[in-house]
Amino acid sequence: MPPDEILAEFVNRFGGRSFVDIRKGLFDKQLALLQDESRRKLACCSRRAGKTHVAGRLLVDRAHRNPGQKCMYLAITKGHARRLCWPVLHELNVRFGLGIAFNETTLTASFPNGSVVWLSGADNIREVEKYRGEKFCAVIVDEAASFGEEIGYLVNDVLYMALADLDGELILMGTPSASCSGLFFEEFTSDRSSWSKHHWTVVDNPEFPRWSGKPNWRELAARFVDDTRMMHGWDHNNATYQREMLGRWVRDTNSLVYPFNDSLNLYGQRPHASQWTTIIGVDLGFDDATAFEVVAFSGEHPALYEVDHYRRSGMNVTEIANKARELCDRWSPISVQMDTGGLGKTIAEEIRQRHAIPVEAAEKTKKNDYIELLGDDLRTGRVKVLKGSPLAEEMRILQWSDDKRVKEHPAFSNHSCDAFLYAWRCATHYTHTAQEPITVDEWVEREDARQYEQEQAREGFLY
Ligand SMILES: Nc1ncnc2c1ncn2[C@@H]1O[C@H](COP(=O)(O)OP(=O)(O)OP(=O)(O)O)[C@@H](O)[C@H]1O
Ligand SMILES: [Mg+2]
Repeated sequence: MPPDEILAEFVNRFGGRSFVDIRKGLFDKQLALLQDESRRKLACCSRRAGKTHVAGRLLVDRAHRNPGQKCMYLAITKGHARRLCWPVLHELNVRFGLGIAFNETTLTASFPNGSVVWLSGADNIREVEKYRGEKFCAVIVDEAASFGEEIGYLVNDVLYMALADLDGELILMGTPSASCSGLFFEEFTSDRSSWSKHHWTVVDNPEFPRWSGKPNWRELAARFVDDTRMMHGWDHNNATYQREMLGRWVRDTNSLVYPFNDSLNLYGQRPHASQWTTIIGVDLGFDDATAFEVVAFSGEHPALYEVDHYRRSGMNVTEIANKARELCDRWSPISVQMDTGGLGKTIAEEIRQRHAIPVEAAEKTKKNDYIELLGDDLRTGRVKVLKGSPLAEEMRILQWSDDKRVKEHPAFSNHSCDAFLYAWRCATHYTHTAQEPITVDEWVEREDARQYEQEQAREGFLY
């Protein structure tokens, strides 16, 4: 009996449903990925190439083939995972009559054969840690270029073990990023990589709704790419065009939202000052992360320092309030700047009344102008960030969605950046004026005068 028939028989007997060929309707590049038996695979593609769609198909296929096992789809946050892959699973469920039971809270799709596809986010180390101890037969990381350096830890430390028992598959997929950093970039561009590599673009996707089913789809696809290029005023060498439409890695610091520079903007130890003023910035999310950033500044130093941070998805109002209380107790801020858009208004009110925390509505107008100003502070070293903080991670890779520098790219996390921006906007570290250098004689003269004034004060002359 050929392997496919044995499999069909197996699924029929133990899966409780009639066998469906989930590969039906996939195009050649997608099929090649789905049928690739390597344990480590990379799919580096343009936008709209059909990555997330094939991710959904692959998860269903593996769920069918591995009764009672778990597969996982990971995006940078649970919110991203829900927006990207959940609709694909729903669509496949209807189209192929898969009999999936969807749990909207846990984002788990349970199949009649007992296998489960779990959607989740990996937006901070704490989130990542929860996958320790799990056993997966397949894990897909979508938008893998948006993960930054953290993806190395996720893949090598956490997922490696989670896939070890079942010799499971790991697939990283995405569109190249402007920062050209992280494991996805390194493995895809390395000649010595042992990962199996796949590459295709939107012009390989005959199922793109705009031209799906049309006999001249190739021509329409090529025209679409060219029209998009011209509409944006890109020439053929334009970095955004190369990345987004051709799926090529082109480093381009101009596309990055923040000019973050490790040597200038990271710090180990804060300098001494007689007094520091602190402000907390909060960016609220539920499926997406809620981020807290605590900044400190002093009239004695020109820079503003990130001194504490916290970022986690799925926090409820009480957890947010407790975290705010804890950070307020630790840092005694003059203000808590919170994003009060949408549900934020109610949350801010609740925290103000129940916990007596000085929450204020964060200033959000002219965001892009302030991003440019914060950029100046980064360029001149007037912003210092803690090594290893999520803020540093986000600032290194967050990119604009196009050359006009108007919208931040939705595939990247910006919650810590936004929380920091709220706090930074409220800070007055820029009022620090640098002291002119003085000679030793001038210093002795000033010091004499200061001591004389002190003595006079002590003896009561000045009262
Ligand atoms: N095999 C397929 N059958 C039907 N539709 C498909 C197929 N592959 C892709 N599509 C459609 O093509 C479009 C792009 O697919 P998808 O969203 O998977 O691309 P993507 O590469 O993940 O895009 P992005 O870079 O924006 O995340 C969608 O409308 C999707 O439904
Ligand atoms: Mg996608």
